[in-house]
Amino acid sequence: MAHHSIWVRDLVKRYGKLTAVDQLSFTVEGGEIVGLVGQNGAGKTSTLR
Ligand SMILES: Nc1ncnc2c1ncn2[C@@H]1O[C@H](COP(=O)(O)OP(=O)(O)O)[C@@H](O)[C@H]1O
Ligand SMILES: [Mg+2]
Repeated sequence: MAHHSIWVRDLVKRYGKLTAVDQLSFTVEGGEIVGLVGQNGAGKTSTLR
């Protein structure tokens, strides 16, 4: 895991009772360019923040 540039495991973001991000896990390698795709309200901005 130490070689990943970004290592996210079981990320959760809640706004009160609303779970906007529900146990999201992913890694990004050095030099990789990654896009986050999803419909409006999917949780992209919450994930990046
Ligand atoms: N500051 C906030 N307070 C309450 N709910 C929020 C807030 N920001 C986002 N949400 C809710 O969280 C969910 C994910 O939103 P968001 O991360 O902005 O998604 P996206 O960027 O993919 O459109 C949506 O249901 C949105 O209404
Ligand atoms: Mg957004």
